[in-house]
Amino acid sequence: MSIGVCYFPEHWPRERWKTDIRQMADAGIEYVRMAEFSWRVLEPERGEFDFEWLDEIVDLIGEYGMQAVLCTPTASPPRWLVADRPEILQTDRDGTVRSVGSRRHYCFNSTAYREETERVVSAMAERYADEPTVVGWQTDNEYGCHGTTRCYCDDCTTAFRDWARERYGTVDALNDAWGTTFWSQQYDDFEQLDVPRPTPAQDHPSLVLDFARFSSDSVVEYNRLQADLLREANDEWFVTHNFMNLFESLDAYDFGDDLDLISWDSYPTGHAQQAAGETTRDELRAGNPDLLAFNHDLYRSVLDRPFWVMEQQPGDVNWPPHSAQPAAGAMRLWAHHATAHGADAVVYFRWRRCLEGQEQYHAGLRKQDGTPDRGYHDATQTAGELFDVDDVDAPVAVVHDYENAWALGEQSHAPDFDYWQLLQSFYAALRAHGVQVDIVPPERDLESYDAVVAPALHLLTESVADRLTKYVESGGELLLGPRTGVKDESNKLRSDPHPGPLSALVGATVDQHETLPAQFERTVVRTDDAHTDYAFRTWAEWLTADAAESLLEYAGDDIEAGRTAAVRNAVGEGRVVYCGVWPETDLANDLVRSLLDRAGVRRADPLPEGVRVAQRGGYTWVMNFRSDPIAVTVESDASWRLGGSKVDPFDLAIADADVVDGLSARVLE
Ligand code: GAL
Ligand code: ZN
Repeated sequence: MSIGVCYFPEHWPRERWKTDIRQMADAGIEYVRMAEFSWRVLEPERGEFDFEWLDEIVDLIGEYGMQAVLCTPTASPPRWLVADRPEILQTDRDGTVRSVGSRRHYCFNSTAYREETERVVSAMAERYADEPTVVGWQTDNEYGCHGTTRCYCDDCTTAFRDWARERYGTVDALNDAWGTTFWSQQYDDFEQLDVPRPTPAQDHPSLVLDFARFSSDSVVEYNRLQADLLREANDEWFVTHNFMNLFESLDAYDFGDDLDLISWDSYPTGHAQQAAGETTRDELRAGNPDLLAFNHDLYRSVLDRPFWVMEQQPGDVNWPPHSAQPAAGAMRLWAHHATAHGADAVVYFRWRRCLEGQEQYHAGLRKQDGTPDRGYHDATQTAGELFDVDDVDAPVAVVHDYENAWALGEQSHAPDFDYWQLLQSFYAALRAHGVQVDIVPPERDLESYDAVVAPALHLLTESVADRLTKYVESGGELLLGPRTGVKDESNKLRSDPHPGPLSALVGATVDQHETLPAQFERTVVRTDDAHTDYAFRTWAEWLTADAAESLLEYAGDDIEAGRTAAVRNAVGEGRVVYCGVWPETDLANDLVRSLLDRAGVRRADPLPEGVRVAQRGGYTWVMNFRSDPIAVTVESDASWRLGGSKVDPFDLAIADADVVDGLSARVLE
């Protein structure tokens, strides 16, 4: 378990380098990541490489006993290259060419850019192939950031046609799969197929879905080009890429084969402001622990092994709407929180506040004058506290599928229907019970999980439905969310009653659905206890139970009153619950708690908001993302490795045993 830092030696005078490196080593830093935007200093003119400066820094890092992670510099192609080969530039949907002048201005499908990439990556890989201080590589930087996954240039149009030819074989097969008779949209030839252009009305949903698939595939292919070159040069290196918060346009699972390590960039106070709804004061100071943990769990689950936080917020940052100072200790809390969820390293971004360019309003571990900033103290303390621990072993899986995010994004059917938020509603309920969760694609083997939650399988293939059915038949506990089994894999409506291929398993079908604006407060009640009512939001289905028993029905006196809203069915050795509404917190907590109890998963008592616990390798982390202190009660005489049963605001404690079962926490006002 280590900490690291992102360093840009090219921004600072050479005379300063040794001091910087020494101060990093003093802080207990073990990894230094560099070079992701340094193409122009590495290759000032075509073919004239200058590695001497990077050699010197790598040597210094080695001398001080640290290790270097290098990045390929392809996120910012220099001006001379753009002038030489302007066809590498990206094109917006409206036809605007994205100019050089910031970063990420290249197209993933540009043949020219792939050639240039090969050149620069090979040169760097060869240069450091035998350098023991370099232990791994990050490809590029944050693929797709600034809305750059999808490009609408001529190269992309051609590549999209080839992709569709490969997938469908004939244009008739494409017409059939998509359903293009609607509004006379049939294609006569693949040459008529275009990337989605601005048109008067809504786009064809199947075109949108396939363009999203194609765009993600293009980045996977581009990344493979880089990864192969690096692996060829030295197969001992790890190859990683730094993904982003709830990043929708790239299917992270598809990168798994080409990467040895998955990492992501965590900016808690920024991500909290990107989420829907109001940001609370505590979130402005330290972020939302469930949002962060969701990312940790997702990226850990891609390869089912420890991940890295490749960029950790070091203090205030420049890009969210508001730039709050993180709470005292937050930079330490985040690192421990990541560790509890399976991180093996947390790398702070950046070493020192930069004097030039776009990110002057972004803190570093050191201030602009080189003196220690708040993050430096936190990072140093953290480095002294981390210890080695086995990987997370999660008893529960949440099923996540990017194609569903793409399809639902296009036909959300309500302004506030957001795929990620729906997943979060169920995920937060699991985390409120202290349960570790893997976030897995629908194709993943589910047999090892005691319980599975699939909140949003809107597009559903027969084969996934079969696997879910077998899972339940053989004793699994499954919880399904609304809008399940509505579409086929081309984003066409299924002709059978929904949830389509899961209707037999669920023992009920959907009679009607509706979306509701937020101002209409509606509730459902428990069928077995008409006094317990629960709020729900956005989406409501009227179910017709067949073999299943009714769990919830609509309350009130409007047209849905008395109709079924959720059902439970026992099949084989297991059970399935289908919830036809989007549950608010109390309902999600109750559904999840009964799922866990039926599945025999050990859990905490529901934890207060902002208080979270996580178990990894026989230790239990108690993390307080609140501005109030908390008191923790555990049912064993385990001792505290760090902290104790009273946890201060934005602080944490670590017990040296698994004490999640029966743990409870109370906020001290
Ligand atoms: C990340 C990016 C970094 C830097 C940082 C600022 O998205 O990878 O290069 O821009 O944000 O917070
Ligand atoms: Zn393009």
